[in-house]
Amino acid sequence: MLFAASSVIVLILAIGLYFRHNRKLHPPIMMLAFILDILLVLVIELQRQAVEQVVEGLDSTLLTFHVIVSVTVVLLYIALLFTGIKVLKGQNQMMSAHRMLAYAFIIGRLTNYITSFFVGS
Ligand code: HEM
Repeated sequence: MLFAASSVIVLILAIGLYFRHNRKLHPPIMMLAFILDILLVLVIELQRQAVEQVVEGLDSTLLTFHVIVSVTVVLLYIALLFTGIKVLKGQNQMMSAHRMLAYAFIIGRLTNYITSFFVGS
């Protein structure tokens, strides 16, 4: 179930990336993915207290890696939102930062998606 939700979010992100040069479609699609991803992280955390398991050393190295990547992805979402809004306001020099953050985000989100198979969330 959680895996299905994660797959839907990855699909929404792919659609948002396809429309990356469309200023009417790209921002709302990415915002939707962000909100759904935050909700997913909260559901996973409430279900299995993933962060606490890592802090208490109860689980595997892979879970630790997965949680670190997940937190990084959330921070990258915030940075993308911040730089995206600046670009929308006409600060075109923010575009290269947005692009670099987007590359890091895509790698992180795909890593998160793949490792979720192995940590069962
Ligand atoms: C996960 C989140 C996001 C990712 C991965 C992402 C990725 C990208 C990419 C790859 C581009 C094209 C860069 C280029 O020209 O090479 C782009 C453009 C852009 N993004 Fe995002 N973005 C995200 C979120 C957002 C958000 C939340 C906003 C606004 C609030 C936003 C606003 C923009 C704008 C205005 C452009 C320029 C469109 C244009 O005129 O070509 N992005 N984004």
